[in-house]
Amino acid sequence: MALWGGRFSGETSSMFKQVNDSLPFDYRLAEQDIKGSIAWSKALANAKVLTAEEQQSIEAALSKLLINVEQGEVDFASSEEEDIHSFVESYLIDTIGDLGKKLHTGRSRNDQVATDLRLWTKTHIQQLQADVVQLIDAVLHAASRNGDVIIPGYTHLQRAQPVLFSHWCLAYVEMFKRDLHRLDDALNRINQSPLGCGALAGTTFPIDREALAKDLGFDTPCLNSLDAVSDRDFVLDLLFSSSTGMMHLSRLAEDLIFYNSGEAGFLQLSDAVTSGSSLMPQKKNPDALELMRGKCGRVFGHLQGLLVTMKGLPLAYNKDMQEDKEGAFDAVLQYHICLQIAVEVISTLKLNDTATTKAAQQGYANATELADYLVDKNMPFRTAHDVAGQAVMLAISKGVALEQLPLEELKGLSDLIGEDVFECLALEAVIAKRNILGGTSHKTVSDALHLELEKLDRLKETYLT
Ligand code: ARG
Repeated sequence: MALWGGRFSGETSSMFKQVNDSLPFDYRLAEQDIKGSIAWSKALANAKVLTAEEQQSIEAALSKLLINVEQGEVDFASSEEEDIHSFVESYLIDTIGDLGKKLHTGRSRNDQVATDLRLWTKTHIQQLQADVVQLIDAVLHAASRNGDVIIPGYTHLQRAQPVLFSHWCLAYVEMFKRDLHRLDDALNRINQSPLGCGALAGTTFPIDREALAKDLGFDTPCLNSLDAVSDRDFVLDLLFSSSTGMMHLSRLAEDLIFYNSGEAGFLQLSDAVTSGSSLMPQKKNPDALELMRGKCGRVFGHLQGLLVTMKGLPLAYNKDMQEDKEGAFDAVLQYHICLQIAVEVISTLKLNDTATTKAAQQGYANATELADYLVDKNMPFRTAHDVAGQAVMLAISKGVALEQLPLEELKGLSDLIGEDVFECLALEAVIAKRNILGGTSHKTVSDALHLELEKLDRLKETYLT
């Protein structure tokens, strides 16, 4: 049953119905629409628009529908209703008759849909935060398991300086903590209730909007009716947070795809998250990681899509805004899936520390050490950089590592170089010297790891309920 038939005499075109109906996707808001409707019926009773008995009948019928929805017993797919709001209202009228027609008093689908979507977004942000905490947990434990493994660190995808694998892990933990708190920020802004703002100008009935907001779990009511019904910033916040989180997952995927490549051979991914080739029997492809990287595109697309949809809209509600939902639903689903798959990948990967150590030793990743060594002997850094560069060139011409050059040849470049240079160039020394806060020495990394593991307990208490 259309909610707006009175003013119309002509039929709706079936093509228009197809483009206008949102039930095929907004049925996902059923739970929120029913809970919002129950809260609205209470607010109407408090405002003496409904009697206590009327409110109870409405609430009983809606609660029954809610149970059916939760048990997956409601057939949305064969319904002809325009959207979830008409679906719920029609159900109410079919079940309790004319009394059901009183529920929409003082309410518009404009404040209703904004409320439903805020409720939905809140719940899903909390789900995503739980996922992010699980991933932080998995990464911290991968760091603990592989605390001493040294890998080459890269800039420009050229071997730059060696780092601990656990240091690499903690870099991603920093990103994931920011993702978590970015979602907190989004939650703070979502926490206002549009209900009671009507179509755009506010309702005429004496609704206690403060109490209604609290009843629905919001902090406060939205303060301006025009803004309340036309604001979708909270969806954009969700999409931006999801996009940034996906970008981090994509970089993680990219690192791991490279580490897993035949060329690097730094690690092995579990059979559980890889697939084979239909033609080449030897292949074991990192598909899970490629999909994490690949799914970024559509999530970024949803953010861009909604920004463009919103940019030209005059106040207040316009039907364009119905386009806010499918992208948000999909972004949340993809981000949720990718966070979970990342946990599986990280928890099951096996490092090949012989290969990582060998690679870290090659590529003149200790050239900076030679320069720093000369600085310690009072040579100005710029000159030291030049001498170290010449040493690298010499070593390349002989096909050896820096520390394999005979002392005499090194002395030929600078007589400040002595026997002690060799311990300085050793891989372990290169790591050990970076004991500054935030650096990659064993001590700083294991301190940082312990701190994060302690914080993890608090994160779990806060976000995994
Ligand atoms: N299905 C609509 C949406 O998602 C609900 C709001 C309809 N409001 C209106 N004035 N037609 O945006």
